[in-house]
Amino acid sequence: MSAPRKLHIKSYGCQMNVYDAQRMVDTLAHEGFVETASVDDADLVILNTCHIREKASEKVYSELGRLRVAKDEAARHDRRMDVVVAGCVAQAEGAEIIRRAPVVDVVVGPQSYHNLPQLLARAKRDGRALDTEFPIEDKFAALPQPKPAAIRARGVSAFVTVQEGCDKFCTFCVVPYTRGTEVSRPVARIVEDVKRLTDNGVREITLIGQNVNAYHGEGPDGQPWPLGKLLHHLAAIPGIARLRYSTSHPRDVDDTLIEAHRDLPALMPFVHLPVQSGSDRILAAMNRKHTAAEYRRVIDRFRAVRPDIAFSSDFIVGFPGETEQDFAATLALVAQIGYAGAYSFKYSARPGTPAADMQEMVATATMDERLARLQELIDSQQHAFNQAAIGTTVDVLFERAARNPGQIVGRTAYLQPAHVMAPDDIIGQVLPVTLSSLERYSLLGTLATSPATIHAPATAPALTGA
Ligand code: SAH
Ligand code: SF4
Ligand code: F3S
Repeated sequence: MSAPRKLHIKSYGCQMNVYDAQRMVDTLAHEGFVETASVDDADLVILNTCHIREKASEKVYSELGRLRVAKDEAARHDRRMDVVVAGCVAQAEGAEIIRRAPVVDVVVGPQSYHNLPQLLARAKRDGRALDTEFPIEDKFAALPQPKPAAIRARGVSAFVTVQEGCDKFCTFCVVPYTRGTEVSRPVARIVEDVKRLTDNGVREITLIGQNVNAYHGEGPDGQPWPLGKLLHHLAAIPGIARLRYSTSHPRDVDDTLIEAHRDLPALMPFVHLPVQSGSDRILAAMNRKHTAAEYRRVIDRFRAVRPDIAFSSDFIVGFPGETEQDFAATLALVAQIGYAGAYSFKYSARPGTPAADMQEMVATATMDERLARLQELIDSQQHAFNQAAIGTTVDVLFERAARNPGQIVGRTAYLQPAHVMAPDDIIGQVLPVTLSSLERYSLLGTLATSPATIHAPATAPALTGA
């Protein structure tokens, strides 16, 4: 057999892209490719791109500039290096990439990457290949399964895509255009994937989707199942210690999801629930289809069944027309909710989205200033949240050896990294840890002899009231 060919893949953007990158690696493993950490000795380089903000998109072209040098160098040594642009920029700007960047051999969209082997063959034959179709057939059904060794190498926590695409059309967002319309995978397929993972040592599954709680895949009874029902079903699979899901939309929080949080100890009490803004005027202009008060009520429904639940969120500052008063409403909402953490972004106009045509642009300096104020508030909440864990005993799922010799690192229910001195056979186990100190974002502690106690997060007010 010939020597394995080497594949280097670089992923930008969301968890969906991280998952897709793994599936591309799995697909190409069946073609004899092994992963390499270095671009220079790669026979195939894949950029799995993100289109969400201008900065993310721009990275592609600067990266392609660097790849041109690497490819020329390979050619000097009579070695072929294929360059693939995959992901959401590929979907949005496929033809332009082919035109602007001769270094690129294959452009493949997020719904077509199961065709990679054929596309690489076509590029070799014809020079270039482009596939940005939204195929009717189930991409996942066409993808080869990961090898057991690959699953084990990826560790105890894994993503499983259950839903893809988005029909919400928030006015600032490219996702409905790059990922296409909303599709849910059937329950049976998801169960197969989860069992394959748990059979190979995975203990924590994060169900992912652009709008994961809009999930409505076909159940074994032929009926559409909501996410809560799927979670109940998955929690019964032997080996599952923890379940999570991301990203959820406030409008799609139904009673089955709330009940799942009430009934399933495996479902972690930590929910990413983006709100974007606290101003009803801006929420309407964003087409989020809910008000700030409705969002607070959703939070209250979760807190009523899981007092220890914590939230993270996404915010956009400087959406067209955002006044100081609108921004103040965002700060007020953050203060009311009390987050364990959040991501905040400056608005970035994306070609083809309705908001890109809105006239009242907020000045960059104003955006910078608002971003700094919002981040300061979020940072202080995050710090208080982490600080409140000190002195408590909590369950930690141990993931891997830490950089410090003898230390093992895992995560709490709230995804906080927690370090203990322990033998490495605790990797893969959930064990109680008494937390003693906080260093930046990492908690330090010792293995406890008594079980974890549930504690309500410090920054969460009893109920936000509405
Ligand atoms: N489906 C998720 C979000 C996916 S995009 C949801 O509905 O909330 C991830 C985050 O990127 C968004 O929550 C938003 O905060 C940010 N984002 C999306 N488009 C953006 C844009 N044009 N400018 C700035 N931030 C943006
Ligand atoms: Fe984008 Fe809105 Fe869909 Fe989220 S819900 S992916 S922000 S359009
Ligand atoms: Fe980016 Fe596409 Fe995800 S635009 S955020 S990689 S869905």
